[in-house]
Amino acid sequence: MRIYILVFLVAALLGALLVECGRDFYKILGVSRSATRHQIKKAYRALAMIHHPDRSSDPDSEEKFHDIGAAYEVLNDKEKRKIYDERGEEGLSGNRHGGGDVFSSFFGGFGFGFGGGQRQGHHETPRGADVLLEVLVTLEELYNGEFVEFLRSKPVYQETSGTRKCRCTSKMVTRQLGPGQFQMFPEEVCDSCPNKRLVTEERNLEFEIEPGMSNGQQYRFNGEGEPHIDGDPGDFIVQIQTNKHVIFERKEHDLYTNISITLRDALTGFKMNLTHLDGHKVSVVKDTVTAHGDIITILNEGMPFYDHYTRRGNLYITFEVEFPVKTFSPTEAENIVTLLGQNSEQSAYNGL
Ligand SMILES: *[C@@H]1O[C@H](CO)[C@@H](O)[C@H](O)[C@H]1NC(C)=O
Ligand SMILES: *[C@@H]1O[C@H](CO)[C@@H](O)[C@H](O)[C@H]1NC(C)=O
Repeated sequence: MRIYILVFLVAALLGALLVECGRDFYKILGVSRSATRHQIKKAYRALAMIHHPDRSSDPDSEEKFHDIGAAYEVLNDKEKRKIYDERGEEGLSGNRHGGGDVFSSFFGGFGFGFGGGQRQGHHETPRGADVLLEVLVTLEELYNGEFVEFLRSKPVYQETSGTRKCRCTSKMVTRQLGPGQFQMFPEEVCDSCPNKRLVTEERNLEFEIEPGMSNGQQYRFNGEGEPHIDGDPGDFIVQIQTNKHVIFERKEHDLYTNISITLRDALTGFKMNLTHLDGHKVSVVKDTVTAHGDIITILNEGMPFYDHYTRRGNLYITFEVEFPVKTFSPTEAENIVTLLGQNSEQSAYNGL
């Protein structure tokens, strides 16, 4: 009897060890097992920037970068993540996961774009055209951050059989027509290059709307633009276009809104909750008289700063007072006069 139990225990232990052999993708990305896809993308993008071998001096960066890419590839895919959660890395049919292509879906095929830095050392190389795409985003997305995925059908040149003329230049040549008689004329001189044909490649690109980005801000995917037969492809540029919001208006880091209140609330005070762009409630309390056009400032309830996530602008609320639409009886009018204690006074002024 005892022996059997022991054998069973050993098998269970071995099983546990086998699962342990796979990498812990959640730990690698520093996210919890219940992380949303948004959190996973965010973690990947931030870590890939730190550990990219071109940017990191850490000798282990290559391996770390590879692990991060593998973790992202699995956890970002619903099916793969399910298998991984159930059976660990071993369950994923022994596929080795790379991460190079995953990286370029965020940053473009030529490495880091970082929103518009010039590529160096390419002055002589001809480039294909840039492609600009305007993306409509909501104020909520600019407040909270969001990921936008798109599929780009990208034309690329592929080598094919045969040759073609390339790198053509014009050269002046001289021809002797007779004694002492010369003619000069331009002649095209070309190299011979392998033939190329255009094919269409489908590329998944992922764009992060980062909190606090401004209207018109651009993000550049290097090398994802139009191809050039003798040079590098251009860039694919995403430009943010903000949709109008029904409640808030944005000016740089500040938000503006109008609230209409009744004359009763304007005179006696009120409490209300204003729903912000991420759903949190902003409490607006007045216990003094509010005049039509009064503005209150609520500090740090504006937009997040793009380069400083923890800092925020302010929220400005302008009040509009709605007057009652009714005629007061002489007694009611007298009561109001007594209550307000104001004199009957009018004055005309130049309102310009
Ligand atoms: C508030 O009202 C003013 C005047 O009607 C208008 O010009 C402004 O656009 C409004 N602001 C918002 C955020 O709706
Ligand atoms: C505002 O929200 C708070 C917390 O959710 C709640 O306790 C309060 O009653 C709300 N006030 C109003 C005026 O709705």
